[in-house]
Amino acid sequence: MKALQFKGYGKLRGNIFLGDVPKPQIREGQVLVQVHAASVNPVDYKIVNGNLKLLLRLKLPAVFGYDFAGVVTEAGNGVDHVKMGDTVYGSLPSISPGTFAEFAAVDADVVALKPKNLNFIEAACIPLVGLTTVQVFNKSNLKRGDKVLIHAGSGGIGTLAIQYAKAKGAFVYTTTSTQNTEWVKDLGADRVIDYKNEDYKKIAKDLDVVYDTLGGQYTLDAFDQVKPGGHVTSIAGGIDGETVKALGLPKIIQWILFFKGRKIRKRAEQKGAHYNYVLMDPNREQVEQLTALIQQGAIKPVLDKVYDLDDGVEALVHQQSGRAKGKIVIKMR
Ligand SMILES: NC(=O)c1ccc[n+]([C@@H]2O[C@H](COP(=O)([O-])OP(=O)(O)OC[C@H]3O[C@@H](n4cnc5c(N)ncnc54)[C@H](OP(=O)(O)O)[C@@H]3O)[C@@H](O)[C@H]2O)c1
Repeated sequence: MKALQFKGYGKLRGNIFLGDVPKPQIREGQVLVQVHAASVNPVDYKIVNGNLKLLLRLKLPAVFGYDFAGVVTEAGNGVDHVKMGDTVYGSLPSISPGTFAEFAAVDADVVALKPKNLNFIEAACIPLVGLTTVQVFNKSNLKRGDKVLIHAGSGGIGTLAIQYAKAKGAFVYTTTSTQNTEWVKDLGADRVIDYKNEDYKKIAKDLDVVYDTLGGQYTLDAFDQVKPGGHVTSIAGGIDGETVKALGLPKIIQWILFFKGRKIRKRAEQKGAHYNYVLMDPNREQVEQLTALIQQGAIKPVLDKVYDLDDGVEALVHQQSGRAKGKIVIKMR
């Protein structure tokens, strides 16, 4: 089968190539999915850049990609909630990427039936950003009426997170650049802040939740915007102590990561706010919660561009530009 792979760490062009690999064999509890579409996420280019070498040890050349939408063509023993011919979608665990390919062997635990009102390309936009968002807002104890700031409202995460937070009854502030403000408003955000011309710090204040998608100084500044007792939950800032332990990394790396998080811990303590880092963990029930919201019309995928598998490297280059307007998808069929 054809699969997008990378052969070395560094630049995308020159390391990523399309080649033939054996079709994966399924084990007990797995299904074989004929992948029709797979969306791209920043983690995919970060893996090729070598930024995640400490966390993820892959044998090169390696097939990569996490999100998938496709059709079950084989079901292993012990699989009961999906069968051959079902149309499905989901996201793989971080330790075992491999959906930028014509077929993927997937633990049935992370496979959910595709929403009836989405085609494969649209469905592929949802799982990783959707799961991350459900997990961020669960960690943040999101309640109806909460004031929430979602940074980067026009990105893959932001476009999904705005719609999810509105569906849960939150008041949503979001940031984006001038050219994106109008269409981001149409996603339901209550106050779209044009970060090129406005200072979000003066507008989004006394917040219950900051969903930090940018990291660095944005993570530290979030503690000025959040109320005492509020939540700063990051997917791009420093890893918290709980996540460091859960990753089971060597002690020295745990210690380095813990040391790096010291400024964030200090700011959280000074403010009396909660800080958590979320590392998305695939979960079928949460994908099914997203399916229900999609079928009710509360969440719609936002598609930037579709690339053929032959042009897969260009999809990754586009994602790495940092200017995606919603999701970028690779089409296999
Ligand atoms: N921990 C996890 O499990 C997890 C899961 C998913 C994602 N992530 C991380 O979360 C981050 C966001 O992911 P994503 O998929 O949303 O990325 P993305 O789609 O590449 O984000 C692109 C968007 O970011 C916006 N942006 C860039 N700089 C901005 C700024 N200073 N202020 C406001 N908006 C800005 C851009 O809008 P403009 O063009 O208008 O600036 C663009 O629309 C990435 O670092 C990713 O690796 C982590």
